[in-house]
Parts: sequence; C-alpha cells; structure tokens
Amino acid sequence: DWITQTATGSGPRMTGACDGEEERMDQSGALDNLLQEERVFRPLPQLVIEANVNPQELEAARTSARMDPLGYWEEAADELDWFKKWDQVLDDKDAPFYKWFVGARCNIVYNALDRHIETANKNKLALIWEGEPGDTRKYTYFELYREVNRFANALRSLGIRKGDRVVIYMSPLPETVIAMLAAAKIGAIHSVVFAGFSAKALRQRINDAQAKLLITADGFYRNGQISSLKETADQALVGACTDCVESMVVVRRCNIALDMIDGRDFYYDELIRQESNEAPTEVMDADDPLFLLYTSGTTGKPKGVIHSHAGYMVGVHRTLTTVFDIKPTDIFWCTADPGWVTGHSAGVYGPLMAGTTSVMYEGHPNYPQADRLWAIVAKYGVTIFYTAPTMIRMLMRFGAQYPKTHDLSSLRLLGSVGEPISPEAWTWLYRNIGRSECPVLDTWWQTETGMFMISPMPISLLKPGSVTKPLPGIVADVVDRNGTPVPPGKGGLLVISQPWPAMMTGLWNDDDQYKQYWQQIPGVYYAGDVARKDEDGYIWIQGRADDVINIAGHRIGSAELEAAFGTHHAVCECAVIGIPDRIKGESAKAFILLNHGITPDDDLIKDLKKTLWNELGPVAVIKSIEFRESLPKTRSGKIMRRVLKAEELGLDSGDLTGLATD
Ligand code: PRX
Repeated sequence: DWITQTATGSGPRMTGACDGEEERMDQSGALDNLLQEERVFRPLPQLVIEANVNPQELEAARTSARMDPLGYWEEAADELDWFKKWDQVLDDKDAPFYKWFVGARCNIVYNALDRHIETANKNKLALIWEGEPGDTRKYTYFELYREVNRFANALRSLGIRKGDRVVIYMSPLPETVIAMLAAAKIGAIHSVVFAGFSAKALRQRINDAQAKLLITADGFYRNGQISSLKETADQALVGACTDCVESMVVVRRCNIALDMIDGRDFYYDELIRQESNEAPTEVMDADDPLFLLYTSGTTGKPKGVIHSHAGYMVGVHRTLTTVFDIKPTDIFWCTADPGWVTGHSAGVYGPLMAGTTSVMYEGHPNYPQADRLWAIVAKYGVTIFYTAPTMIRMLMRFGAQYPKTHDLSSLRLLGSVGEPISPEAWTWLYRNIGRSECPVLDTWWQTETGMFMISPMPISLLKPGSVTKPLPGIVADVVDRNGTPVPPGKGGLLVISQPWPAMMTGLWNDDDQYKQYWQQIPGVYYAGDVARKDEDGYIWIQGRADDVINIAGHRIGSAELEAAFGTHHAVCECAVIGIPDRIKGESAKAFILLNHGITPDDDLIKDLKKTLWNELGPVAVIKSIEFRESLPKTRSGKIMRRVLKAEELGLDSGDLTGLATD
C-alpha cells in the first residue's frame, strides 16, 4: 500500500546500511540508517537520581493519565495561576471543536511574568539576548515585566483592544518577546511572521488576520550584513486591505535612516518613554485566542493556526517543565526563531512560565565562524540546548574541532525538534556536544499541537532517531488509512486519538479545513506524518505523508511554491516535490512546463528564482528546476507529484501501482 511505499519509498533514505558515516550521509541526505538503528542509550545514574520525574513517577503518570486523562490535565492546570478556575476540564460536545478548562478565566502573561514578581524569581534573569555583532542585553523578570507593561500601555494608547490582531514582523530581539507578551497581556492576538518572508507573504498574512497593527524593526544583522525590515513592511502595506493596519511600530536596531509616515509610524522607544511601569492584565476567557501562527498545508494558502490562553498554557507548561526537567539553576537555550511555533512555546512562553533563564541569539550560527553557538553556550553556561537536526548537520560538516575549543561542561540536556534526526546526527550531538553524558531529547510536535507530544524524558532509554513514546496524557498510534493500528515495524500514519490541552482551537476563518484534521481518519487527529512503531512501542517518525516539504525544519507546501512559480509569465504548469538533502533534510525541486515557444536558459532560471523570492521570500528556497515537455497527471487532470518523486528517487514503476488512479 502507499503508506508502506512512502515509508520505505524515500529511496536511499530507508535503505543502505553502509559502513562510513560520511558515505551514508552522502547517499541518503540523512535518514538512511534509521531502520537499522538498534543501539539503546541509558541515562547516567546521577541524572536519574536528580530528575524531577523519576522512572517510577513517569510510569505512575502514564497510568494515571490513561485511567483519568482529564484528572491528569486538571492536576497540571493546578500548577498555574487562574483568575477563576474551570467549571469543566473538557467539553467535547462540539467535537472536534474541543473546549478546555471551560468557564476558567486567566491570562498566560500572568503566569509568564506577573506571578514571578511576587516570588524569588523577581530579580532572576528572564532573558539573556546576544546580537550578532556581540552586543548583549539582559532582563530580569522584574525588568521584563516593567518593559512589557510600558509597551502594553503604548498598545492601548494606539487603540489596540482585546481581540485585535497584531502582526509582529521581527528578527529575534528582546522587543520581539516584549511585543508578544504586551499584546497577550492586553488580550490582543499576536501573529509573528518570520523575518524571512517577503512583503507579499507578509501582506497575505496581514490581510487574512485583518491585523490592526504591525510591529517591526528597522532591520537586523545576519551573517555580517544588515537586512532591512521596515522597507519590506512598507511594501507589504501597499495594497493591504484598507480597513486593517492603522499603525506601525518600529524598533531601532541597526540605525537605518527610515521614511516614517506621520501619524502611522511610531518608534518603539519614543512610544514607551512616557508610559507607566504598571499595566492591568486583561482577564481572558479560557478559549480566547492568544496567537495566530501561519503554517503551510497542502493548499496554496497558509493556515492561521489558533492557540488560546488556557489550554496552551497548561499543555506547554507541563510538557516543557517535565521533558526538559527544568530546575531553578538552568540556563535554557532554544535556538528557534520566534517566527515558528518552537520559538513561541520553547523560546518564549514555556521558559517564562517555568521561571527559567532563556538565551536568545539574533544572528547566523556560523558568524563570524562555525563555533558561534558553542561560544554562546560556554559564555552563559547554558545547561539545556534545544535545536533542530538541520543545525546539527550543518555544524557537523565543519567538524568536531569547533566545539572542542569551548568549555561545554555546563550542558546537561540536549534537545532536537522539527524533522527526523538521523542516528549519525544524534550520535554526533551526543558525543561532541554532550560528552556522551547528556541525553538527546527528540521531541515530536507541530504548530497545531502547540506542545510536545511524543518525546523522551531525561530518564528514558534512548534509541537514536526515535522520538520514543507519547508523553503522559497523550494517546498516539500508527495506523492505516482506516484507522486500524499497523503491526510493529510497518509504516503507517501517525495519529493522536484523544484531545490534548494545547491543541489548536481552530484555523482562522476556516472551520472546514480545521475539521479535515479530524475527518481524514475517522475520529482521530491526523498529523500528516508517516511513522512506524517498533517492538518496544518506540515511535520512529519518517517524514511527511502529504505534500508538505520540510526544508531545514521549516514547513512549506508544494502548492505554495507552485502557486508562486505560476505567477511567472513563462510558466504553463509546475509541480514541486521534496527530495532528500544532506544538510536541510529535504530540499525542493521544481518540474516546469513552459508556455509554448519559450526556451529555457540560465536567465530564465534566475528570473524564476527571483519570482519565488518576491512571492514568498528567502524562506522559500528551490534547489533545482527541471524543464519538462509534459507532467504526469491523473485522468482527472491533477498533477501527480508522487510519480515525479518516485522517478526522482529511482523507484521502479511497480512502486507506482495505485498512484496513477489517484
Ligand atoms: O513532520 C513533522 C516534523 O515537523 C512537522 C511539524 O512542523 P511545524 O508545525 O513547523 O513544527 C515544527 C516544530 C514543532 C511534523 O509534522 N517534526 C517535528 N518534530 C519532529 C518532526 N519530525 C521528526 N522528528 C521530530 N522530533
């Protein structure tokens, strides 16, 4: 069946147990050895003794969550502060529009900031930020609280109210965190757009969200260069819907001279100067939206995933504190940009709710050279380092001599997210960064899930390349298209069978698409991933089952790339597929049928790439373009990307049985 084909059919990805690591990496792009991986790594005894959750407690939590899932999440909710507690933990009457903590009143910012001001955390560092040129800024919880309050007041004076949408188009700056928290504090809904998106992509998100305010910076430092942001933000507003964005707030980062529009544009520093250090925290209903985050799906249009205050805060708090075993002395560094969900849950909200100290870095990991990340770990004594496999693969390429020149002895836990980590990358991280002592916590989750779902804890037995087992309170399985569990070792589709607190509460203006997640396989949430379970119940994620490409841990839809190419006058038809890539996990390849009479040449290729850049931004990279005389299609005229993929990966035509009748 096709599931097996997808699972095993990524060609070299799942085959070939070669000897040399390098050779394997070359052949496969990444995951070749995953099926052959049989090693098990045990945590050091000391780590088990000191862990917040020991093995017996983990088993007990699993059992109690199995017997009484709502009781388990209720107990997790009790660890946080509420203005009013819930009348009901879960209301499933209107499934799949599940409602968590019905009747409760809260605000995540109360838990992330306000409550710490009353405790010993008040003068603890909340955020250590380092700019690419080497400048640093540090905020205690009290300082961050006051700065958030000042900006919250400024937002209110700009007319922003509960429920209004605020788009944040910024690189990783302290003000990015401040803007998110200030918006949430006054009950506005933030939507962070990654700074690598183009003006057009930004405009599309502003329009879809009907945003009232845009927050940006003059520019940012990346790889020794200054990139401008305000200019792109200005372009985005040209032609944006007329009844949205009324004002723009600009953070000064790079001292770029700007054209500011009187009455529309305001400098952040000037706005907050006169504001008071105190601001009331809006009392929110449990399911009032906290943020929208646009992510790619299988259609050409990004989906606005909605997360709400109560469920999100409970799920993120419980999973971050238990998986990363957060202790008062930790220095936690999640390398993800705030433009992605990892940056939201593990970069901003999770660590702040946990009262830990976070590190944030503005720039390129290789600037000025390939040891920058290790220099930061050593400088601040980072204890938990959470990153993506693509980063590891990139740094691996430069060799182990870079980490060797730094004192990384402060590290106690490592984490991975965003795409499957190959046993090679896992082992490199474990040995060269973690001294063969720090567990690698491979966390599976999604923009839609909001929180970690399948992940080890520090005390777990680890198999490199496996995300191990669902966390307590999560029921996940690997099934066929009818929802029947597949036997161990066989590829299938990853599903979640019970609602969980931090689940998205909907898609912005798109209830039908939201329902799709729960309708494709009856009664369960279909994640869109192919996975398999082994004899021990360990889960191995093998990649996306749908037409979503995971480039360097960032999702981009084939359809989005195709739509972008489609705007070029020379393009008649186009299909984009993901192919294995040694560093990025996957990269995109386009097959293009040109309009009659157009002959391809280098200039056309350059122009097509420029079109992609204009439409979507630098985030959309295409590795290669192949011009074809025709594209394979179903009888109903739909382009069959899977046929192209099979051809590209060298699968024989037998593998295509069933595909041609799509
Ligand atoms: O395919 C899975 C992959 O990333 C997808 C979710 O992407 P996004 O919503 O952008 O969120 C990424 C960060 C949470 C999933 O459907 N993915 C995420 N984590 C892992 C993973 N694949 C394998 N192993 C993981 N640990």
